[in-house]
Amino acid sequence: MIFFFVDQNYKNKTLTEILDVNKLKAVRKPIEAANGLPNECYTSKDYLIFERDKIFCDKWSVVGVGSSIPNPGDVKPYNLLGIPLILVRDIDKRIRVFHNVCSHRGFKLIDKPCQLKNVIRCPYHSWSYDLKGRLIATPHIGGLNKHQSEKFVKSKNNLKEIKSKVWMDIIFVNINSNEIDFDEYIKPLEQRWSEFINKEDQKSIVYSNDYGYFNLKVKSNWKFAIENYCESYHLPTIHPQLNKVSNINDHYHIQGLPNRFAGQGSKKYQQFIKGNKKFNTFGNWEKSRLKNSEYIALFPNVMIGLHIDHFYVFWLEPLAINKTKEHMQMYYVGNDSANGEELKELRKENSRFWKNVMLEDINAIEGMQEGRNSPVYNGGNFSPVMDQPTHQFHKWVAGNLI
Ligand code: FES
Ligand SMILES: [Fe+2]
Repeated sequence: MIFFFVDQNYKNKTLTEILDVNKLKAVRKPIEAANGLPNECYTSKDYLIFERDKIFCDKWSVVGVGSSIPNPGDVKPYNLLGIPLILVRDIDKRIRVFHNVCSHRGFKLIDKPCQLKNVIRCPYHSWSYDLKGRLIATPHIGGLNKHQSEKFVKSKNNLKEIKSKVWMDIIFVNINSNEIDFDEYIKPLEQRWSEFINKEDQKSIVYSNDYGYFNLKVKSNWKFAIENYCESYHLPTIHPQLNKVSNINDHYHIQGLPNRFAGQGSKKYQQFIKGNKKFNTFGNWEKSRLKNSEYIALFPNVMIGLHIDHFYVFWLEPLAINKTKEHMQMYYVGNDSANGEELKELRKENSRFWKNVMLEDINAIEGMQEGRNSPVYNGGNFSPVMDQPTHQFHKWVAGNLI
């Protein structure tokens, strides 16, 4: 079990008490003159509480993938920097996200992933909720063997549901319920990717259920993983093998407008082939772009890799200011044959390939975390050519803080 330092009664400091706001303004300057986010954004626990609200709760952030709760009744707790949540697949197979707290005396309802029949029962006094969050049983509420009370309206005491949306199996939540509608939010990315996949293709993804998932714990702030993902500048130094196949010159930058995502693409993606075996491919991929693959960080905390023959979701669970759990889930295209015995070796190799790339990146982002303890570092500079997507992410963070 992970214990968080976040005390819910803690009096939040204002941003100006945490850091010099002028340093955030410097982030938003044109790239040639800009500095990166100040050190406090990577080292201050007070800042993390501020960030939890402004960056995670105010925005569409990611808390998991649907494939981790595939069947009706599957339930999973999730801890968003101290805020307890529950992910539920209800009987109609719809995914819902609730605050993980009983409306009676506030017991935390779900402690570990489990499979429930029809109800979420509070272990304390057995109040029970159905999988849609409705309070359906309040045993002895009116005294022994009186399970109703005239003074108590059940329907006003349901679980508190959070605005959520599943897109490409990724579960997004907007905890403070103040972000624009998700369909609007995702439109710029869908438009960008319309030459690769359409709505039908989106439905054709199949999660890989053998070599599909792994996670990595890193001693780094979550933002470094996003920054590192956005740029290809480090390819020759950190990924020399990958750089041989997909050279830094074969990569291009991606900067979404409005500013919600950034990343990079490759023009040299080679489809995975072993003997005569290969994965299914998306059916509507633009013919002139067969070798394109794109790697996009959708802010704040999910990175997506799109290839003609597979797709992955690499999302970040911040654990503390300097600790992050990285979750990776692979997907293939088509029907159940994508998970068949025939392609097992291929799936294994593909997963190993990506895991190695992610492992190589850990050194980079942990090194950046260490460096941020230096009092003389001012947020650093950007290469006006190579660091544009990274700057875009910094601007997004800074813009949401002030
Ligand atoms: S706190 Fe849940 S039933 Fe009492
Ligand atoms: Fe990398």
